[in-house]
Amino acid sequence: MRRKIIFALAPALMLWLAAAGASAQGTLSQQERLGKKLLFDTNLSDPAGQACAACHGPQVGYTGPDANINAAGAVYEGAVTGRFGNRKPPAAAYAGDSPVLHWDGTQWVGGMFWDGRATGATLGDPLAEQAQGPFLNPLEQNNASAQVVIDKVLASSYQNLFLQVCTDATKYYECIARSIAAYERSTEVSQFTSKYDYWLKGQAKFTGEEQKGLELFNGKAKCANCHVAPNFTDFTYDNLGVPRNPLNPFYTELYWNPLGSDWVDTGLGGFLKSAGYPADIYNAEWGKQKAPTLRNVDLRPARNFVKAYSHNGYFKSLEEIVHFYNTRDVPGAGWPAPEVAANVNKTEMGNLGLNHGEELAIVAFLRTLSDGYTPKK
Ligand code: HEC
Ligand code: HEC
Repeated sequence: MRRKIIFALAPALMLWLAAAGASAQGTLSQQERLGKKLLFDTNLSDPAGQACAACHGPQVGYTGPDANINAAGAVYEGAVTGRFGNRKPPAAAYAGDSPVLHWDGTQWVGGMFWDGRATGATLGDPLAEQAQGPFLNPLEQNNASAQVVIDKVLASSYQNLFLQVCTDATKYYECIARSIAAYERSTEVSQFTSKYDYWLKGQAKFTGEEQKGLELFNGKAKCANCHVAPNFTDFTYDNLGVPRNPLNPFYTELYWNPLGSDWVDTGLGGFLKSAGYPADIYNAEWGKQKAPTLRNVDLRPARNFVKAYSHNGYFKSLEEIVHFYNTRDVPGAGWPAPEVAANVNKTEMGNLGLNHGEELAIVAFLRTLSDGYTPKK
């Protein structure tokens, strides 16, 4: 299974790399170049074959690059056949401004992962802290230890680059993670080259529909309350009341998930509970997931390529998720019950009163957020 997916991906990936080279976003620093090698290295898993990019593909905005998986459970298989995680891969791009997870006086902000558990408290940088996880996660790249990863890097074709960037042998693993974070923040991954960016600079014109979508996004539809420019997220947490995705393979993975189909994704609240916070703190965050970036939400290799949206990939199109925001609480709309009933946001969504044309205008605006736009001369 896994092997087939990787081979199917390879040509698309190489095309993309060639294209990226041609339209170089400026040169990468040595550390960013090392990060790039690490992100695409298929040898850094056990068994070999799975790079970070297997779940964070550039051709789809550094999220899940397999349309068939996206169309179903939306959760990706790790290096070991049959082992799946429990959530949809969020974008690895545009996450670099997320601060260390903290309470800002009114709400939790920052950290990495849907539930914030890579807080950033250890390294002072959630993005780098996150990058230490997947190599060792048995449901992802499954290496036995940090030393195993280091040894593979030391035996790799980019060994020299590694030794130039990472000079302190006592901090090799930290340096690997910081280098990946540097690449994720680089102008090659977090490009800011969408039509929206050129429009901001006066180098592109929105269609009437895109313009209307932008106004709704910032106004009546309230999207900008949480999806704040320039990253189109404010790194805060909310429970939108997304239904469960019954196709999530985690429900049947009884070894890793003894709760089986009773398992519920408790998001930030679940993490805070496991981190030892008192009940009144974690209960208020039960079921909340981190607001993802909306940059590249529509970036896909072909029009009919399916992408999945939300933490469990329940939604299969932008039209569908926008319709959900608009009609979740409209009687007769027919949406299934939320995965987590507690703390569902009732004030900013659920019955926005948008007509069909307005929903489509918002989608048209979201499509302007894909990188790689060529402004017309
Ligand atoms: C098997 C698939 C898989 C692999 C391999 C993988 N990831 Fe992920 N990644 C995920 C999933 C799923 C999540 C969300 C997990 C969660 O929230 O609990 C995630 C989350 C992230 C995030 C958090 C983004 C955010 O906004 O919170 C970043 C960054 C990231 N991955 C980068 C990486 C890097 C770097 C590697 C390689 C070292 C990697 N991933 C390997 C599936 C994968
Ligand atoms: C109150 C904050 C808030 C508002 C308002 C809001 N969102 Fe979101 N958005 C979120 C959160 C949180 C998630 C993740 C929820 C989850 O996965 O359970 C999300 C997820 C999404 C996703 C899925 C992205 C992905 O990569 O999976 C899209 C698309 C989206 N929102 C678009 C919109 C649009 C369009 C609007 C306005 C109609 C909007 N959002 C309003 C917080 C918000």
